[in-house]
Amino acid sequence: MNRELSIVALPGDGIGNEIFNEARKVLNWINNNSHYKLNITEELIGGSSIDASGEPLTNNVLEKLRVTDAILLGAVGGPKWEDLTFDKRPERGLLKIRKELDLFANFRPAIVFDSLASSSSLKPEIINGLDLMIIRELTGGIYFGEPRGVEKLNENNYKGFNTLVYTSEEIRRIASVAFETAQSRSKKLCSVDKANVLESTELWRKVIIEVSKDYPDVELNHMYVDNASMQLVRDPKQFDVIVTTNMFGDILSDCASMLTGSLGMLPSASVGVSTSGKKNAMYEPVHGSAPDISGKSIANPLAMILSVSMMFKYSFEDDNMSNIIIRNVNKVLNNGYRTKDIFTDECKLLSTSDMGDAVIEELKNEKL
Ligand code: IPM
Ligand code: MG
Repeated sequence: MNRELSIVALPGDGIGNEIFNEARKVLNWINNNSHYKLNITEELIGGSSIDASGEPLTNNVLEKLRVTDAILLGAVGGPKWEDLTFDKRPERGLLKIRKELDLFANFRPAIVFDSLASSSSLKPEIINGLDLMIIRELTGGIYFGEPRGVEKLNENNYKGFNTLVYTSEEIRRIASVAFETAQSRSKKLCSVDKANVLESTELWRKVIIEVSKDYPDVELNHMYVDNASMQLVRDPKQFDVIVTTNMFGDILSDCASMLTGSLGMLPSASVGVSTSGKKNAMYEPVHGSAPDISGKSIANPLAMILSVSMMFKYSFEDDNMSNIIIRNVNKVLNNGYRTKDIFTDECKLLSTSDMGDAVIEELKNEKL
């Protein structure tokens, strides 16, 4: 029986369109070769939406995102829109989706692909086989806390302020997601906070400990964020699942992605549950819009393709299809195919679209 699902694609800015075109090839292949009937519609976000309507995300698009089965996003932002006022910037579109759809759980895997271990700036023995999951709280903390703003104190003195707020409910729900993820992996969870200085993260630690009582099989430890950033670079394999606040997760996930030597390879998922019980989720590469290489067909589309793999796992609950995509991306890498960002001597250099085609060529050998 056919499985009919809707996907809203938001290619966005910079390399967003180029990499989405390659993910689309994979989605089309799935449509033509499996029981899935994926209805894919494209909408605007970020700078491209600003150019068309003056807004980084229109309400019309937001309403479509509320009802779709999954969202696939490319990237937003670029120098063209950097001078706009704060609430008109491309990034606001992204933050609005996170908040409005309550996508509170952000999964950011940092995986070292065997054939790419030499691309990392760290020694191979430090990162070989690394498979780490950062779970970042995505709709709270200093990103959204009130009050916020910039106020004039006097003629030449201003006050800029943001507020780091967490309620125990917000912490509890991200904690449950993190413990459940740890249970499905190696049963180790590290919670990262700054409980020695910030009261809101003192509460974070207290609630994490409370929730841990429901997961006695998971080994929990705590780390201050400064130490965690150092430990990530010193010995990343000591971690399996990390759970942390919005801002710390933003910083630590960039750091972790670079350990893998392949920022262009990493996907992410942002997941939440609406009041009606519908699962909302958005999938996107960890990398940004890379305006400097946009339009040159040299961007790496694999993070976007792997984001589709996460979509099958988290939204469509189809681990098999998810693994098929990962397996074939691996085969392409093992065949020595590389885009410019991961190119090393003796490999074959491919353009963005040739890389997408290479994945399809491998997928053709799959029997579904
Ligand atoms: C990320 C990005 C965003 C964030 C920006 C683009 C708003 O850095 O997804 O990590 O800070 O969350
Ligand atoms: Mg970031």
